[in-house]
Parts: sequence; C-alpha cells; structure tokens
Amino acid sequence: MEDEILGLLVSRRAVIRGLAATPLVLLASGCGSSASSLTGYWVFRVPNNDGTYRESFFQLQQSGEAITGKVMMGSRELPISNGTLKGGKLHFEVAMRFRQQARTVVYDGAVQGSRIALTMQFPSRRSVSGTAERTTREATLPPARLPLPALHDVPDNGLVRTPQMGWNSWNKFAGRVDDAVVRAAADAMVSSGMKAAGYTYINIDDTWQGERDKNGNIQANRKFSDMKALADYVHSKGLKIGLYSSPGPKTCAGYTGSFGHEEQDAHTYAEWGYDYLKYDWCSASSIYKTDEMQPVYQKMGDALSKCGRPIVFSLCQYGLDDVWTWGAKVGGNSWRTTGDIQDNWKSMSAIAQKQFAIASYVRPGHWNDPDMLEIGNGGMTTTEYQTHMSLWCLLRAPLLAGNDLHTMSADTKAILTNREVLAISQDRAAKAPKVISQAGEISVVARPLADGSAAFAFLNWGDQPTEVSVEWESAGLSGKRLRARDLWKHQIVRVPAGREFGAKVPAHGTLLLRVHSE
Ligand code: GLA
Repeated sequence: MEDEILGLLVSRRAVIRGLAATPLVLLASGCGSSASSLTGYWVFRVPNNDGTYRESFFQLQQSGEAITGKVMMGSRELPISNGTLKGGKLHFEVAMRFRQQARTVVYDGAVQGSRIALTMQFPSRRSVSGTAERTTREATLPPARLPLPALHDVPDNGLVRTPQMGWNSWNKFAGRVDDAVVRAAADAMVSSGMKAAGYTYINIDDTWQGERDKNGNIQANRKFSDMKALADYVHSKGLKIGLYSSPGPKTCAGYTGSFGHEEQDAHTYAEWGYDYLKYDWCSASSIYKTDEMQPVYQKMGDALSKCGRPIVFSLCQYGLDDVWTWGAKVGGNSWRTTGDIQDNWKSMSAIAQKQFAIASYVRPGHWNDPDMLEIGNGGMTTTEYQTHMSLWCLLRAPLLAGNDLHTMSADTKAILTNREVLAISQDRAAKAPKVISQAGEISVVARPLADGSAAFAFLNWGDQPTEVSVEWESAGLSGKRLRARDLWKHQIVRVPAGREFGAKVPAHGTLLLRVHSE
C-alpha cells in the first residue's frame, strides 16, 4: 500500500532535469502573501536510494496559522486538511483512496529558511522524508503534448509465437531490483530447471532508470552499473533480457519515461542488447486521453520495429480502451487486460474470471496479459497457486514468474516447471478456452489442443470442496475410448466414455485434465 502511495509521489506533471537551484530568498506568490508566507507552489522531493528521487507538488495557502491547499501527485489533486503552521512547524493531512480504502497520510515538517524539511507518515507508521522548495505553477503542469502519428499497422515482429515465458522483477522486488537481483534471477532460472522447461526472458521492471545525459540518452541509475554488461551476462546463460519504460515523462514509480525520446530509447535498448520492453501508460495519462492510446503506443511500436533488434513489445495500460482490439496493430506482442494483480486469491480469481470473455482476441505473437504470476510469493496456498497456473496456461497468458527464483520452495518450483501444464500454455492450436459449464461456484473450461486432445479444467471458485461432473458428449468428446491424465497429479484418470465423469475438487482448486478421445 505505501509503495503505491510512494509510486504516486512523482511528477507526472512536469519534466524534471535535475534538482532545481535553491532560491536564496523566499519568492512568495499569491494574493495577500507576505515574504514569510508559505502561500504558493512547492515541489516536494523524496530521495530514493539510487541517486534518483520522487516528487510531488503542493499548492499552499497560508492565512495566519491556518494552511489550506492541495497536494498534486501525478494526475491526482488531493485537498489538504487540518493544516497548521505554528512556530515554524508545519502540519497537514491528506486523505487518499487506494483500492477502495481511505488512508490518511500525515505531513509534518519544519520551515528552514527557504525550504521545508518534511516527513510523510503512512497509516502503518512507516515514513519517508524529503525537502520541499519553492516552484512555479508552470513547473507543476504536464509537458506540452507532442503530435501523434496517423494510424497504420506496425509490421508483426514475428516474436513469441507461443506465449512468452520468463521472470519479471516487480511482484517480488518492486523498487529493490538491482543488478545483483537480476543476475541472481538469471542464475536461478538455469539452476532451477526453469530454463529447461521453456522460460527465457529475465525482465527488469520499473526503477532501473536514471536521468538522461546531455544528448538525451537514457542512463541507468546507480543500482545498475552497466546495462550492456548485464545484458551480456544474461545472454551468456542462454537467456534473453527485458526492461521497462513509459510513454509518459515518468514511469509509475516516478522514474524517467520515454516521452519525446521514443526512437532514441529504442536505439539505446537495441545497442545495449535488450530483447523485451514493457511499456507502461502511467504519466502519459496527464498528457493524452485514454482514446489516444493507440497512436501513443504505435509510436513506440514503430520505433522498436526500426531499431535493428527484435524486441518483444509488451503493452501495459491495464486493459483500457479495449486494447485487445488494437494491441496487435501497434506492434504489441501482448497487452495487459487488467489492473495490477495482488498476491491473494480474491485478486487473482477476479482477474481470471474476466478473461474468458476476451479470450478469442489472441493469436500467435499477440496475447492477452492478465498480469504477472504471483506463484511463490506467499499470499496463496499451493492449491490456489496451482489454480493460478492452470488458468494462465489455459488462457495462453504470458507466463512471467514474479517470485524470488533463488529461494523458491519445492512446491513453487514444481508448479512453475510442470511440463504437462506448460504444454497447455504453449500448445499451438488456435482455439480459445471456453467455459462449457457453470454451476454454482464450479466452472468447467475446455480448450482443444493441437494433437486432437483437449484440456479440461474443473475450477472450484468456492470455499468448500465440491463434487463436479461433466458429460463428455456435451463437452464435445464423442469418441468411443477416452484417455485422460491429471496434469497436476501426473496420473492417468479413468474416464469411461459415454458416462458422466465426476470428481471432487478442493476449495479454490483445479482439476486439470488432458483428455484424448479415440
Ligand atoms: C504499474 C504496472 C506494474 C508495475 C508497476 C511499476 O503499476 O501495472 O506491473 O510495472 O507499474 O511501477
């Protein structure tokens, strides 16, 4: 929760080029303000531990000891309450809503000459500190829009004919990802057997970026000493490597985005040897409208297609504007269909249930992405993680492990590397999975496979173990002899043809069968 609030502590509204000079005198602005009044615009910067910082803006109004105004975080403008300035001590509160929950963040600080040393305290009592300095209203505004290209179809890059498999840093490491974490993930992908099972991409998510150099070239921050050397290392393991940016000026965590530098960044990625780009809408929302996403994403799709290196293009804009209808046209190899997954049953199952209605929009090289895997992160049971994996494989979703590969348990490894289940994900038949029966909290999902067999999942969304049954004929299997395998138990299951098949499925569990009909 705090990480999300911190993620908003950025300028999605201003292009920042290094720390602004500290004014030597207070330049008070606003009607009726005096030289010592806090009335005016302020930029609040919180340093990260990597040479970068996050920022937000305040517009303050001082009247005697009372402080009013607003905090501007990205595209959010949040009113200040209970604001006071007494004896140089500033206090105010801001109510924020996250995932339907109201949270109050408390700011306390001391005015020190032309600066305010401030601490932001979250409900958990965790706090972060930084400095607020005067700024102008203009600095709080988003950069001017850039012209958008006319729409055309970006040529298919020919990559990921079956859903991409790999690892992404965000779900487990968020802002703690660094060079060592990425190298360790690559090592573990090989030693755990994941590479042998088909996993290829090692993807660095948000927080690798530093500032641009004087020629506008993006540089990594000090957590990543040499992006090219890192790519070389990952490639030396027989793996591929990915990174992350945004079409806006800032990423979701407040790091430098690609706004106005699309071609330049695509070239840099190619020069460094990167193979995969996740491109996350974030601060682009303060510049462009939702229905302008297509040309915005096309801009990077074009840039990648001209950069001289095959780079998987992964769109991340949370499924807005029916992206599944145009994601492939802009060169997208996959597109997020939802907001962020969380490591719990409610989040994962709610996301999954919405995917079947749009499951027919995928085709080789162009996949719906219901977000990265949470398997092994600790918030679900082994049974629930098996359901998570079953669903992502049935849906042909990208399989990007989001756990710490280095320390994973035997159960986690067994789920991620179950080859019979992975074969469902990577099957080349073009048919989408369908919910063929829905009774109470049980869904039966079927997907025809390339060898004429079919995957059947008996999913129990409910909290109680439940008996399920299916008539094979109504499920489209009319053969005389049926052969079935339980893909989690690695066992043959007796399924007499012509008769109803029944089984007991544990709460939140999935019985996943591959059925051959002869
Ligand atoms: C957004 C994305 C996440 C992750 C974070 C990084 O929330 O949806 O997957 O990339 O940004 O800041």
